[in-house]
Amino acid sequence: MTPVFEFADVWFRHNGQSDCALCGLTVSIPSGEKIAVVGRNGSGKSTLFLHCNGLYRPQQGQIRFNGEPLSYTRAGLRQLRQRVGIVFQNPDDQLFSASVAQDISFGPLNLGLSQAETTRRVQQAAELCAITHLLDRPTHALSGGEKARAAMAGVLAMEPSVVLADELLSAIDPWARLDIFEILQTLHDHGTTILLATHDLSVVRYWATHVIVLQRGTVAFSGTPQQLLRNPSLLEATELSKIWWTVELD
Ligand SMILES: Nc1ncnc2c1ncn2[C@@H]1O[C@H](COP(=O)(O)OP(=O)(O)OP(=O)(O)O)[C@@H](O)[C@H]1O
Ligand SMILES: [Mg+2]
Repeated sequence: MTPVFEFADVWFRHNGQSDCALCGLTVSIPSGEKIAVVGRNGSGKSTLFLHCNGLYRPQQGQIRFNGEPLSYTRAGLRQLRQRVGIVFQNPDDQLFSASVAQDISFGPLNLGLSQAETTRRVQQAAELCAITHLLDRPTHALSGGEKARAAMAGVLAMEPSVVLADELLSAIDPWARLDIFEILQTLHDHGTTILLATHDLSVVRYWATHVIVLQRGTVAFSGTPQQLLRNPSLLEATELSKIWWTVELD
């Protein structure tokens, strides 16, 4: 099966930075999987995600999406962003409309969908994310977890084939977390590829079907959770043994 994304020797340095954020990053991201992207602060997770939907462009190297090189034309980016939805690390970067309903409508209306189809999608996404009671609320008048779910609903309303969720769980309580995992499972059952940036061992162990470990802008590991968790020297080399000291596999 063609990988959903292929990064080949991708280099990227943020404006004004002397160090690279992606430093010759090469990885094949398998299609249709539940992928945990792990790596300490500054390892390049968000920068990687923002390359996946074309918000950043490699300064060197190439990215393929479903086997085709990314196109950075207006039409190319429009098509890409329709298929690749991203829930930003900070929901305040994502929510900008007067109300939650308007915010979720923004993507579908922008795609040129009818008002009726947009309303249907808003309702469906809001139901999935359990925020129908918040649709008329101003986006700034939400709690952190509600904001995260509203941001997620905005992405789902686009009906993307890939969902990138950047530390989505950090503002969310354990109950809402369960809801989010249920949503992610439903998406996965429908063939959606999901990438989730996380530091959580239980997510890697029980949720993910594939894990990518980033270290200083490169990929230190890409494979199954078992391959990673059963390899003590790899856990040591990637510094994961320091935070995942409770790893015990049967
Ligand atoms: N907008 C920016 N301007 C300048 N440097 C940036 C910017 N965003 C990220 N960086 C730098 O790029 C590197 C990678 O950052 P990135 O945000 O991709 O890491 P991350 O793995 O998402 O970290 P975190 O776990 O803290 O979210 C870091 O050194 C960071 O300081
Ligand atoms: Mg980040």
